[in-house]
Amino acid sequence: MKVEIEKLDHYGRGITKINDKICFVENALPEEIVEIEIIKETKKYILATTTKIIKQSKDRVVPSCPYSNVCGGCHLAHLSFEKENEFKEQKVTEILEKFAKIKDITIKNIIYDKPYHYRNKITLHQKENKIGLYAKKTNTIIPIKNCLLVTEKLNDEIKKVLPSKEENIILRIGNKTQEILNQNSKKETIISYIGNKKYQVSKQSFFQVNSIITEKLYDEIKSIVKNRNSKNILDLYCGTGTIGIYISDIVDKMLGIESCKEAVEDANRNKELNNATNCTYKQGKVEDLTKEITKEYDTAIIDPPRSGLHKNVIEKLLEITPNTLIYVSCDPVTLARDLNLLKDKYEIEYIRPYNMFPRTYHVECVCVLNSDKSL
Ligand SMILES: C[S@@+](CC[C@H](N)C(=O)[O-])C[C@H]1O[C@@H](n2cnc3c(N)ncnc32)[C@H](O)[C@@H]1O
Repeated sequence: MKVEIEKLDHYGRGITKINDKICFVENALPEEIVEIEIIKETKKYILATTTKIIKQSKDRVVPSCPYSNVCGGCHLAHLSFEKENEFKEQKVTEILEKFAKIKDITIKNIIYDKPYHYRNKITLHQKENKIGLYAKKTNTIIPIKNCLLVTEKLNDEIKKVLPSKEENIILRIGNKTQEILNQNSKKETIISYIGNKKYQVSKQSFFQVNSIITEKLYDEIKSIVKNRNSKNILDLYCGTGTIGIYISDIVDKMLGIESCKEAVEDANRNKELNNATNCTYKQGKVEDLTKEITKEYDTAIIDPPRSGLHKNVIEKLLEITPNTLIYVSCDPVTLARDLNLLKDKYEIEYIRPYNMFPRTYHVECVCVLNSDKSL
């Protein structure tokens, strides 16, 4: 069957209609005419894959990765990087309009850097004597020798991985130090830098995978804090303490809250490494520690996982209303849901997308909110 693609959905799939039913087509771009094979049909939608491109988009590129047909990692490898950045700006705008129900949100230009070799971490999977990445939408392992998303040096480490009992094999690299965490590491941690701040990272702790974009993002947060002369800061979902420590030189007091025990240990170590004596950490879920969100804080930096904010956290932020919220989000859908709840007491100044995860459909955003009382 031949179809014409209208636009991309938020997962980077082409959208068309067949007998008025929406059809999502893998590996198809807007304005392309493609032949498709239907993989699944439900009452509401059809899922298909491209079998032949009849009219090709000018934005199509040949994926440089030998695994791109089978691996589920790079959803946008067939789209030019320029268009990928446009797609992500558009995606954030559409999701915000649809789910936050707020008109005329200012979406600033997306920040991006290089499309490949940006990741400082890779998780390989191991099953039935195979080590590699998962194939698209399955747990079938495709053995790989390299991945275009990770740094060159981490690719050398992929080649050295040996069969073991681990189901997931995590490899990490420190950006300036080039220190490696692998199967044979005697050390449990490595040192990585963001700007001139030094961070200890253990295998299990969250640490942003794209060091270049992270620095640009943290610089934006720092300039917001500086311009507002914010002094008492909450760093909610603080991970290894990265954001708070990055801005610690220009604030008086910073409290970080984080649920992962190892990350809090890293955060305390990072505080010492950077002589950030004004930073303090508490371990626990933010929703269980809402008593720590008090009126003494003028700004809350919030960087939750994909699931977004727990309702107790939203309620507490609405009750205390710090002057400024700086919400860092890796999922625009949960960001929009939370903004919809925060909008009664907060005005959204702007949202800026960051291309933290090039060649995938994922996008990071920073959103700045001002409380009524600060206006
Ligand atoms: C997106 S990461 C952000 C980490 C840090 N701000 C950074 O940029 O490196 C989210 C962090 O939230 C932590 N986390 C997840 N659920 C949590 C919860 N309910 N309460 C506190 N921390 C949580 C995770 O362990 C992770 O470190």
